[in-house]
Amino acid sequence: MKTVLVTGALGQIGSELVAKLRGLYGENHVVGTDIRVDADSPVACGGPFETLDVTDGERFLEIGKKYQVDAVIHLAALLSASAEAKPQFAWHLNMSGLVNALETARQLKCQMFTPSSIAAFGPSTPKDRTPQDTIQRPNTIYGVTKVSGELLCDYYHERFGVDTRGVRFPGLISYVTPPGGGTTDYAVEIYYHAVREKKYTSYIAAGTKMDMMYMPDALDAIIQLMEADPAKLVHRNAFNITAMSFAPEDVAAAIRERVPEFELTYDVDPVRQRIAESWPNSIDARCAEEEWGFRPRYDLDAMTKDMLGKLASRL
Ligand code: SER
Repeated sequence: MKTVLVTGALGQIGSELVAKLRGLYGENHVVGTDIRVDADSPVACGGPFETLDVTDGERFLEIGKKYQVDAVIHLAALLSASAEAKPQFAWHLNMSGLVNALETARQLKCQMFTPSSIAAFGPSTPKDRTPQDTIQRPNTIYGVTKVSGELLCDYYHERFGVDTRGVRFPGLISYVTPPGGGTTDYAVEIYYHAVREKKYTSYIAAGTKMDMMYMPDALDAIIQLMEADPAKLVHRNAFNITAMSFAPEDVAAAIRERVPEFELTYDVDPVRQRIAESWPNSIDARCAEEEWGFRPRYDLDAMTKDMLGKLASRL
């Protein structure tokens, strides 16, 4: 990667990834793009920034050409719960955005990264230590777009030689930019509420385990995979990666180690609970470890300590 175009640059992953990439590759070598404009954000002030609706393929290609990018990191997408509320729009945005990213990468001979998700699995997938290669029949529109996206990236790699790479992200937790419209968002909100109110009402039921990861590990994973030797990659789209697996009561217990009065109650949202129950309890990340050395640094305790500390000074 020398010059990178990032879509969804004002989003949860993008806002932190752009800053990190600019530190590594130089501020003029990372082009942030988003459908929104936020002139005050460091993403827009700290280097090149362009507005881009990813469903506009001509503009996507034009920005790629203008900056002579050699890598596309395509993050713009609707998350699981928002997608379930607007399935037709979710298909349009997630799939035409991806097609335009792949076409830009094909025409400009770029490397290309796009995230898949634990949502690419479904109710018939083995739930524990979910293998890299297994049954993928999701019953959410978000999951359907993720499986389709994995297949399309594989197709572009085989048919056109595009250097496509991807990971199946678990729920991502960070103190910088909040996620929006995901099923795993509770695992971010709980920390904000712990710091502000010392209590939280979870929309996910007790006992519902999902894979999670702290943002610094997610950013490292993207960069490490993009820099990995292609000859070592057996899999491409997309690698299982995870750092921890927990249910709401587990994260509450970790918070209570530092905020003893913290209280957790439940008011379960049937839509997001159904989505969560269709996903694995914990996935097996051994292929990522073996093929490109993936190794997360943060477990639940280390993440909780860092999140609470950072949020306490920010809020
Ligand atoms: N965190 C995402 C969501 O909950 C999963 O990819 O939608």
